[in-house]
Amino acid sequence: MRTTCPCPPSTDRRRTKTSSDPRGRLLAEYAKLAPHYDARWERYIERSHRETLARLSISPRDRVLDVGCGTGALLERLAGACPGAPLAGLEPVPEMLAAARRRLPASVAVEAGWAEHLPFGTGRFDVVVSSSAFHYVHDPEAALSEMRRVLRPHGRLVITDWCDDYLACRLCSIYLRLFRKAHFRAYTQRDCDALLRSAGFVDVLVERYKIDWLWGLFTATAKSPEA
Ligand SMILES: C[S@@+](CC[C@H](N)C(=O)[O-])C[C@H]1O[C@@H](n2cnc3c(N)ncnc32)[C@H](O)[C@@H]1O
Repeated sequence: MRTTCPCPPSTDRRRTKTSSDPRGRLLAEYAKLAPHYDARWERYIERSHRETLARLSISPRDRVLDVGCGTGALLERLAGACPGAPLAGLEPVPEMLAAARRRLPASVAVEAGWAEHLPFGTGRFDVVVSSSAFHYVHDPEAALSEMRRVLRPHGRLVITDWCDDYLACRLCSIYLRLFRKAHFRAYTQRDCDALLRSAGFVDVLVERYKIDWLWGLFTATAKSPEA
């Protein structure tokens, strides 16, 4: 991906480049990127979604939430694979959200919001997925606790993101932290495993892989515990 990344909340945020508010910086960066996002990241999106979908089997009745759904590309693929499945997306940046709404059928509910404060009831979803959004989340513990809350007992969590075990990703992370203020941090396979377990998830498996010569990702799968 080319360098542009986001961070966390406020719905009436001012878009100033100099804002010290990480959510304001995210909103500003992604407002600019939104019209170009799909074209600029086409190959990355296709490959990262392919890997995510390979680890995410859903049935037509599964209620699925995509956290940080961006322009809705993953939801579009899920809707194509499972027509009629109750799908929902959450996205904080109005311009990305608008693109998702344009692209997705009206049956897919796409809402504004942040991973750290999911605007959904407890136990509302069978599956929560998130792709390439976690490195922007400033309070990963809060986000995972929210993901666990909105999952039904034994619901499934699937998170794909950059993996800090790979040198190219580490360098990119350093660059982004220095020059792109919205980026927060990427995780190693081990960090991610520890985060999920300490958030109370069970059956945790974190796989890492490369999608091309540059990008190394992980996909974490886990289940929420029994009630
Ligand atoms: C690199 S894009 C990925 C978009 C999409 N998931 C995909 O795979 O193409 C990262 C997305 O995460 C969103 N995001 C950043 N911080 C977030 C947060 N704290 N909560 C929810 N979404 C967030 C951004 O607005 C952006 O749309």
